[in-house]
Amino acid sequence: MPSTNEFLTAFNKDAEWWRTSVIYQIYPRSFADGDGDGLGDLQGITSRLDSLASLGIDAIWFSPFFKSPQKDAGYDISDYRQIDPIFGTNEDFDVLIAKAKSLGIRIIVDIVPNHTSDQHEWFQVALAAGKGSAERDYYHFKDGKGENGELPPNNWQSIFGGPAWSRITEADGTLGQWYLHLFDSSQPDLNWENPKIADEFDEILRFWLKKGVDGYRVDVAHGMVKRAGLPDATIYDENLREKPISNLTMAEAELAVPYWGQPGVHDAIRRFRKVIDEFDDRAMCAEASMSPLPRLAMWVRPDEYHQSFNFDYMHSAYEPAALKKIITDSIVEYGKVGASSTWVMSNHDGIRHATRLGIAPENTPRPGDGIHPTDPVPDEALGLRRARAATAFMLGLPGSSYLYQGEELGLPEAWQLEGKYRQDPTYARTKGKRIGRDGCRVPLPWEAGVGAANGFNTTGNSWLPQPDNYRVFSRNLQEGVAGSTLELYKRLLKERKAFQLGAGAFRWADEYQDKNTLAYVNNDVLVLFNFGPDAVVLPAGEVLVTTQHDLLVEGELEHDQVVWIKL
Ligand code: NOJ
Repeated sequence: MPSTNEFLTAFNKDAEWWRTSVIYQIYPRSFADGDGDGLGDLQGITSRLDSLASLGIDAIWFSPFFKSPQKDAGYDISDYRQIDPIFGTNEDFDVLIAKAKSLGIRIIVDIVPNHTSDQHEWFQVALAAGKGSAERDYYHFKDGKGENGELPPNNWQSIFGGPAWSRITEADGTLGQWYLHLFDSSQPDLNWENPKIADEFDEILRFWLKKGVDGYRVDVAHGMVKRAGLPDATIYDENLREKPISNLTMAEAELAVPYWGQPGVHDAIRRFRKVIDEFDDRAMCAEASMSPLPRLAMWVRPDEYHQSFNFDYMHSAYEPAALKKIITDSIVEYGKVGASSTWVMSNHDGIRHATRLGIAPENTPRPGDGIHPTDPVPDEALGLRRARAATAFMLGLPGSSYLYQGEELGLPEAWQLEGKYRQDPTYARTKGKRIGRDGCRVPLPWEAGVGAANGFNTTGNSWLPQPDNYRVFSRNLQEGVAGSTLELYKRLLKERKAFQLGAGAFRWADEYQDKNTLAYVNNDVLVLFNFGPDAVVLPAGEVLVTTQHDLLVEGELEHDQVVWIKL
């Protein structure tokens, strides 16, 4: 067994692009709106690609833009081969890919194999075909318990709140079977025990690969295969979060939560991998909410995913010891299976980190819950300061980093959104108890004062209204302005590339650390994080980039700031 140090230094030497890329997540409905209807679209995105090239990213991951009734913002797909007309056409996507390629940007699309929309033809046919039919075997249709089948088949709960089962009315008008939906009732789970499902997905994967996409982000990658017989869960709470599982052995966890991390899921992944490997240079990233890291690393063994999101890193406590542990564990545990780590601070499912880091740990809502109007108001100035520092610390690490649209503007969570605008199914399914994820999904401000949505389009229409404070974060107000968050991101990405930090030789730099700081060296670049409360003396060397541009006191690094120094 190699030592920890060998993992840290031998890590990430490969030329495979996904190991080192900075991948920018576009949430299509909120990035840029070409036709002015208030919902972002592909033409809008294409028209703004130059700004991403100038930011310095390597690839884009698109949240789903496929045909969908949009009950879960596109994660409910009714046709995997068609772009939803609200976003444009398949031809618009061809234009987008061509432009991205010409700018040297790779494209990753989102595949949702755990469930379809209830409007998908497979589900509609299954409903009509009746009990026991081959068509129903595409999904998990079961008879209910109780004298008249009036109780759900087991005790599973939806991630969005409420039961994970809904009962259908059969063609003859009688109450009939139940179907499983781990998410909204409009998102029936597919039955991956049925070999036809794998056949269908082989072809869907090939369809977009042939169009030239560079890879897939795979939704709910830990949940596709359920435990045989669908037994009751023994660990669950109202929201069925996976967190408590991390304290159990793997065997206990598989039994306790019979729909996450089942062994059969790995066969499904290997099948995906075979299709991906039919094409040159493509990659897959797992959205596998598994914890702790040794368990998650099983998803990135050599014949499975190329990489996986690192949610333990994203949710790490903001303090040096916790961060040091999760980074070391990530490098070591992924390294043991030959994978490189990914890093992420924000996405479309969580509170934007510019706001999250301004919330006291004890008040931080659980992932997916959002900030409730009755929660304490976040300290946004502190949050932004910490977010800039945390991002600068992340982007110096070896491996691949994911950015979420708008974070390069320092955009805060739109936690002020009134209930009447909220569209996340979590909000309705919990009757507003859990406020949901809309606050991180509000359209981006591009040009201050251009329409009510600051240049998201020219009409001012916006599917979710921007809060008043978004104006000052508009991209045009930050472009070329020294010290702005946008210019900070550009600088970080430029230096990251120049010093090849994505593939760097990493070591903790204990000689620069005390109890309030954390430091590492990657390819001769020292990255130092001061968690405060006092300023620390800047080590000698050339300052490549610092998060404290407008606060600079000669020779000092203030609290909640990061500096990159060339040694
Ligand atoms: C994870 C996605 O990121 C989230 O947005 C979605 O609601 C669920 N999977 C269900 O598809």
